[in-house]
Amino acid sequence: MSTYDEVFENNRRWVRRWNEQDPKFFERLAQEQHPNFLYIGCSDSRVPANTVMGLEPGEVFVHRNVANLMVNTDVSSHTVLEYAVDYLKVDHVVICGHYGCGGVSAAMQSKDLGGTLNSWLREIRDVYRLYKDELDAIEDEEERRDRLVELNVREQCVNLIKTATVQRAYLSRGAPTVHGWVYSLEDGLLRDLEIPFEELLEEVREVYRLE
Ligand code: CO
Repeated sequence: MSTYDEVFENNRRWVRRWNEQDPKFFERLAQEQHPNFLYIGCSDSRVPANTVMGLEPGEVFVHRNVANLMVNTDVSSHTVLEYAVDYLKVDHVVICGHYGCGGVSAAMQSKDLGGTLNSWLREIRDVYRLYKDELDAIEDEEERRDRLVELNVREQCVNLIKTATVQRAYLSRGAPTVHGWVYSLEDGLLRDLEIPFEELLEEVREVYRLE
């Protein structure tokens, strides 16, 4: 574990390295950003967006919260989405969950987790309810949790597609595409769940059409 002071030493070393490698790096980034991705992931310290995607500063716009949720009434995530899609014009919006997610595990327990956590994680309980038959049929608890991680990613993609921001942008400029990924803590690999974006968009628009 790094100490408080080490963080500043690390930072200065990192700046030195960039200045040696690319002397205009900070000057350029200070002017503008052109990320091609919006990444919405879990706050878990083991899943840092830039690191696992191998991207440098300026390449990915990031929002993280507990269990990578897109909650309809959450102003923060929706502001990030709107800014990334309408102003930065990203081509890809990614929901990235991870196997072994503590938020998903907590939501699977029938216990009072505390006010805010109850309300936040209820979103995942709602996903469980939607796929109850499939999930209840999985005996192994970890396997069931990891399947719920995948289904939660899918449902959060659906929540993205329900937004006017995504519908409007996709219909007018053909982007962004919404993707669902799961990261594995055990091997460090990202898996694309290959969410059928176009199909879901059609399906969602039967009910959530916003014109
Ligand atoms: Co997590």
